[in-house]
Amino acid sequence: MKLGIGNDHIAVEYKNQIVKYIKEKYGYDVVNYGTDSTERFDYPIAGEKVANAVVNGEVDRGIVICGTGVGISIAANKVNGIRCVACSEPYSALLSRQHNDTNMLAFGSRVVGIELAKMIVDVWLTGKFEGGRHKVRVDMIHDIEERQK
Ligand code: RB5
Repeated sequence: MKLGIGNDHIAVEYKNQIVKYIKEKYGYDVVNYGTDSTERFDYPIAGEKVANAVVNGEVDRGIVICGTGVGISIAANKVNGIRCVACSEPYSALLSRQHNDTNMLAFGSRVVGIELAKMIVDVWLTGKFEGGRHKVRVDMIHDIEERQK
């Protein structure tokens, strides 16, 4: 698995901890599309970069982090083909994989403590899409994108 990660200036050190955790626990390749500086870096830039990397197949899935996880997830979800869940607890993260086949995860460094964030990452990375009736609904989301073109 190859993951893309992105962040704004609020979440630099927090991002580093998440990357270290994923590399050590899963051995995944993690490509950094975020900033490593605490100078202002507007979250839509990172959200779009990671989202494009996912839809272009440069990476398999993406994780994006800003202060709340909200702005960066909204930006990512503007890219056709992205289903990014912004969440603060593991239940939604897991169900978003099982039912919505999310290909991006967002959370906020100002909202979610680092150990809880690791739990969220664990269930999101290991959760499997269940298909079936859920695929019908994911296909309907894709249809919305097609109608917007
Ligand atoms: C930056 O101040 C902050 O707005 C950003 O990190 C994020 O929380 C936006 O949704």
